[in-house]
Amino acid sequence: MRPSLSARHNGRPERSAIMTVPNAPGCSRPGETCIRQGSGNGASGREGDDVIIRELAATESIADMTALLHAAYARLGGMGFNYTAVDQIEDVTRSRIARGRCLVAIDDGALVGTIMFHPPGRSAGCPCYERPDVATIGQFGVLPGRQGTGTGTRLLHHAEELAFASGAAELALDTSEGADHLIGWYKREGFRFVEYAQWEGKTYRSVIMSKPVRSHVGA
Ligand SMILES: CC(C)(COP(=O)(O)OP(=O)(O)OC[C@H]1O[C@@H](n2cnc3c(N)ncnc32)[C@H](O)[C@@H]1OP(=O)(O)O)[C@@H](O)C(=O)NCCC(=O)NCCS
Repeated sequence: MRPSLSARHNGRPERSAIMTVPNAPGCSRPGETCIRQGSGNGASGREGDDVIIRELAATESIADMTALLHAAYARLGGMGFNYTAVDQIEDVTRSRIARGRCLVAIDDGALVGTIMFHPPGRSAGCPCYERPDVATIGQFGVLPGRQGTGTGTRLLHHAEELAFASGAAELALDTSEGADHLIGWYKREGFRFVEYAQWEGKTYRSVIMSKPVRSHVGA
């Protein structure tokens, strides 16, 4: 069974209750255990919030995933940051998904968010990513209408559980050095600056951020 998430993180209460649900609606495979996060007490950002976090199934629509990423990253594109997900074609989505484990947030059967988890050994291009004990995340987006309601935090925390299970010592990510709002949020989630990287084709320099891996279970 995959690890469940605790109801607290970094000393802050989560926005909603979390429990594991075998064969929950939205789970694609028989026997799969999903993370269901219902508000119950109305503490989440949206009344009736009831999101499942699980892995993308091989049969699910890459077109839908690509459309979600385009929608999520549109604001960053408008800010002049040419993140790959701003306009990537479906084949790029497919190949990026093949590099690791793709988590999705499902609400009432609909895809509302995603994050990629890459175990150690799958990322390259900067010294941090090439360390044998570093896992990474990427391709991280939530539908604009759902942003700010806790879905991204839930996806991130589930990726952190995957990092813990993979044996990684650190979980790293990259974002534009000019995306102050993202850098600030990642810092609040415990990530700290490691180094800069200049990815080919990008109009911006990236910051590599990393945090020590720990499980939220029982925290
Ligand atoms: C980054 C992203 C995945 C986070 O997902 P999310 O569901 O919005 O995240 P959460 O609701 O858990 O909120 C995360 C933090 O950002 C804030 N936030 C995110 N979107 C917000 C919005 N539209 N309005 C106000 N606050 C927002 C939240 O208040 C929260 O901060 P806090 O934990 O300090 O209170 C999502 O905003 C997104 O898709 N952004 C566009 C794509 C992107 O930036 N991807 C990452 C590239 S490195």
